[in-house]
Amino acid sequence: MTSSSGAAAAAPAHPPTSADGSGKALYGGKSSRRITVHDITAAKERGEKWPMLTAYDAMTASVFDEAGIPVMLVGDSMGNCHLGYETTVPVTLDEMAVLAAAVVRGTRRALIVADLPFGSYQEGPVQALRSATRLVKDAGVGAVKLEGGERSHEQISLLVQSGIPVMGHIGLTPQSVNAMGYRVQGRGEEAAQQLLRDAKAVQDAGAFAVVLELVPGELAAEVTRSLHIPTVGIGAGPETDAQVLVYTDMAGLTPGRVPRFTKQYANLRQTLGDAARTFADEVVTGTFPQAEHTFH
Ligand code: KIV
Repeated sequence: MTSSSGAAAAAPAHPPTSADGSGKALYGGKSSRRITVHDITAAKERGEKWPMLTAYDAMTASVFDEAGIPVMLVGDSMGNCHLGYETTVPVTLDEMAVLAAAVVRGTRRALIVADLPFGSYQEGPVQALRSATRLVKDAGVGAVKLEGGERSHEQISLLVQSGIPVMGHIGLTPQSVNAMGYRVQGRGEEAAQQLLRDAKAVQDAGAFAVVLELVPGELAAEVTRSLHIPTVGIGAGPETDAQVLVYTDMAGLTPGRVPRFTKQYANLRQTLGDAARTFADEVVTGTFPQAEHTFH
């Protein structure tokens, strides 16, 4: 990251402590090298739970990297949370490539996973490979994520065979919002069986992890027990291997109501608004700038 603060190059100011004391932990471990998908696999074997946050810019990503967040998702939620679109559907591969590269530049430890945007992989495996290759080569991400279980099996397979680690995403898949709406998925026996088949399809295709979005907690727990790859839950209860939140929800930047499954750990909207109002007040009243801010 190009910044006068040099934040990206700095070691975490207060490295979190390892949960298991082994030093290998994804969160709180001693290693400062970049986390790989092999570390993610090892965490499942150890039974370690881990956090993932979205990030869309270098500065925010550097904050999360310093906080020890081991995996960051440059999610296509950038559509709603960063680019001002109503959904994730309009996000383009060009937009993803620019923001993913920024997040990579802003971090030095986290594994960076970038979403393949809607329309960049649905045509088939070759299109998926072309899009994913761009994100790996130009943006420098360590893995990509794409939506769909059985329906995306061939795309995942070709990417993995080509050396690109893939995170799957099943349950609610926001790129299909026009067909699916925003509803809990996997309710009822038939839908639950389909979700289990989708999870297995993602694993069999070679994905290193799978996001379960908006799925009943009991079903997410069953999927987690039945897979050897980690599950990453969002609105999927407490028994997945990892949890992901959209950072603007987590930090209280998102305006209005946030979904029930999310948790707000700060109120940055209030804090930033207060800072902006105080600055504006000081400008109009002539209290800023003072002598210490002035060159002679
Ligand atoms: O785009 C995104 O932020 C996501 C998460 C909700 C998993 O896909």
